[in-house]
Amino acid sequence: MQAPGLIAEILQLKERRNAVILAHSYQRPELQDVADFVGDSLALARQAQQAKCDVIVFCGVHFMAETACILNPSRTVLIPDAEASCSLEASCPADELAAFLQANREKNYYVIAYINCSIGVKALADVIVTSGNAQQIVEAAPSDRPILFVPDENLGAWVAEKTGRSMTLWHGSCHVHRLFTRDQILQAKQQYPDAEVVCHPECREVVRLLADHICSTEKMIHYCRQSAAKRFIIVTENGILHRLRKLVPEKEFIPISTSTCGCAECEFMKLNTLEKLRNCLRDFAPVVSLPEELRLRALAPLQRMLELSRS
Ligand code: 13P
Ligand code: SF4
Repeated sequence: MQAPGLIAEILQLKERRNAVILAHSYQRPELQDVADFVGDSLALARQAQQAKCDVIVFCGVHFMAETACILNPSRTVLIPDAEASCSLEASCPADELAAFLQANREKNYYVIAYINCSIGVKALADVIVTSGNAQQIVEAAPSDRPILFVPDENLGAWVAEKTGRSMTLWHGSCHVHRLFTRDQILQAKQQYPDAEVVCHPECREVVRLLADHICSTEKMIHYCRQSAAKRFIIVTENGILHRLRKLVPEKEFIPISTSTCGCAECEFMKLNTLEKLRNCLRDFAPVVSLPEELRLRALAPLQRMLELSRS
């Protein structure tokens, strides 16, 4: 079926199911265009928490759909492709974190978990952060306890730098962001000397050092809109380019390719397609379901995050 027919079918099914479609900024352009709301992890968590429809269809990776389900359990949460995982989430298995905390009981760590983690890790955390609010939340952490930051060592190092709080970092990273290199950025800067470099904090320090601005995907839009620059070198997953070009059409956005694939693409994010979105609304599957006891334990640190990042 051609996309217009498919889109009409999705919209009809959405109406019939009384569903809302949420999409992350790394989703395929056609999914972003059919969604009711597109945003970063923080904005999507807020949207999911406030959703009034019977069904939330989450076009993103699994931990994001899981977060929607933790925050709003009275809605049915569907994900077009249940295999949409995340390498950063995989770099911190809950049982390994539990064993680490057990082995270091005397330290009494205050555990700060980046939202890109499983429900099991969230349940072990004191508070959750996203790349959009990490600085604010680390600043609010109790000053009399050592901090353990999981799972992203790059985001953790960046926040430690910004806040001056020393933190023990879990050695996890994102397989897309860790591939950007200093040489690629230097080359792009040479080619576009008037462009500003905007990068995601999941990038390594050697890359972050070359950036004019470091921020979450959502903040990239605000930054590029208000900056005096006309061109930007964008150092993150390529899905954000669609949003940037749509929302800030008067400016130019230059992607950085990674060494393994020509186009800095998260293959997990790209597992979702229009066909799978139609199928999940039609078949009412896959549904994200969570054990209630674990959900409640993961809810507390997520709620703490939402309260702390309200202002
Ligand atoms: P944001 O919090 O900026 O949406 O990033 C999520 C993510 O998965 C980055 O790789
Ligand atoms: Fe996870 Fe990286 Fe994909 Fe973001 S880009 S969802 S951190 S694998």
